[in-house]
Amino acid sequence: MGSNEMLIGGKWQSAVSRDTIPMYSPSDGKEIGHIARGTAVDVDKAVAAARRAFDGAWGNMAALERGRLMSRLAALILDHHEELAQIEAADTGKPLTQARTDVTVCARYFEFYGGAADKLHGETIPYLNGYQVIILREPRGVTGHIIPWNYPISMFGRTLGPALAAGNTSVLKPAEEACLGIMRLAEIATEAGFPDGVINVVTGYGEEAGAALSVHRGIDFISFTGSPEIGTLVQTAAARNHIPCMLELGGKSPQIIFEDVNYEAAIEAVIKAIVQNAGQTCSAGSRVLLQRSIYESFMRSLSQRFSRVRVGSHTADLDCGAVISRQQKQRVESFLHGARDSGLEVVATGMLDKSADPNGYFVTPTLFGLVPEGNDLAREEVFGPVLAVVPFDDETDALRIANGTDFGLVCGIWTENGARQMRMAKRVKAGQVFINSYGAGGGVELPFGGVKKSGHGREKGLEALREFTVAKTVVFNHG
Ligand code: NAI
Ligand code: MG
Repeated sequence: MGSNEMLIGGKWQSAVSRDTIPMYSPSDGKEIGHIARGTAVDVDKAVAAARRAFDGAWGNMAALERGRLMSRLAALILDHHEELAQIEAADTGKPLTQARTDVTVCARYFEFYGGAADKLHGETIPYLNGYQVIILREPRGVTGHIIPWNYPISMFGRTLGPALAAGNTSVLKPAEEACLGIMRLAEIATEAGFPDGVINVVTGYGEEAGAALSVHRGIDFISFTGSPEIGTLVQTAAARNHIPCMLELGGKSPQIIFEDVNYEAAIEAVIKAIVQNAGQTCSAGSRVLLQRSIYESFMRSLSQRFSRVRVGSHTADLDCGAVISRQQKQRVESFLHGARDSGLEVVATGMLDKSADPNGYFVTPTLFGLVPEGNDLAREEVFGPVLAVVPFDDETDALRIANGTDFGLVCGIWTENGARQMRMAKRVKAGQVFINSYGAGGGVELPFGGVKKSGHGREKGLEALREFTVAKTVVFNHG
């Protein structure tokens, strides 16, 4: 693999245009490599290669063999664990410990879905006398995957794991801000022995390679993770081509803290859920809804802990790294300015480590208290280490505020009262609900996805496997 080549039909090749895009490390702004600037012609070649593999080697391979290849890839990823983590940390700015976790999770996806490939059973249906009906679960065909820069390596596994296990062939468009880890993974996948064209990776700008993939008439399904704005474009393109799409568009996920909470456990989870990956996580717990009766005392403990959060380079391996780009830093800072301008109270901030490079894209983690529920900070996805605390009076009030944004991805509920846990879990609008814990990250077994503007379709778990298949009804008249 050349550093500016992409994987199409089993061969590493430059973009037809020969253009490249420079890549920078968020920790110091220094150039760390190049990727190919793929465009519509490259996407065309990749889709054609995926189709050939679907009609050929991959389509004809037994599920058992597909699963074995995926398990082999899982093992190879673990063999290259530290190397991949180092690439991912430099590429995204995330602390090394987080990058190591992401590599482990990626391997786990291939292990989980590799094991599931030959367990995707169909069904039989009782029908008229003299008939037998079976439901075949077939792959969709060629699947398109557009993913963002926040968890490139982990998302490689999240999106390709179920697609490949179900028998599809794929064209992946990673994000132009960070995808060096993915390119190395793609190389490792070819070493694992996947036939040519099963995994194709086309790099490039979203409005070029991404847009070309989303409108391509040769794909049968598209999975997108990213902003709601681009999600709308991808869904519109899918509608024009009459193909299904799966969207994961982020959230404003609440952690609801009732007065009978275990302080220590909740505070650790609240901090982690917003500081992890510098808040650039679709499932970040970016709102805390806090019962008014414990507002003062809980905030005292939370702010003490929050002010100990340390920020620095990926190599310093602290609690929080840089955000992905200068542009993202500006975006997060504009939310901070807006919040200060609207008179919101800063309760605590984290600390930038002395070793941090002044050219890195660092944002000081900030905790805001008494945020009115209508404020931008309580409604909009900031995608940075910024936490808004909104007080509430009782269960009804908490539920109204929790469900009062356009999003619905994850929800944390902190209470020892079992009946309340169940009532809340049933009534909150979210794809995942955690009781006395929080964190979608590692659980590859757990179906994940949103409602409302957070998107639709389910990734992870066996649910994702179903998404990447289509049912075919076969009716036998045996007399
Ligand atoms: P984005 O939605 O523009 O990018 C995500 C992916 O879509 C990238 O691979 C990009 O190349 C591709 N893309 C961009 N324009 C496209 C187009 N016209 N057609 C097809 N694909 C296209 O997100 P961006 O600009 O990186 O971040 C903006 C905001 O979106 C963030 O601040 C955050 O709020 C949200 N976001 C949410 C994510 C999540 O995990 N849910 C991930 C990334 C961003
Ligand atoms: Mg964008």
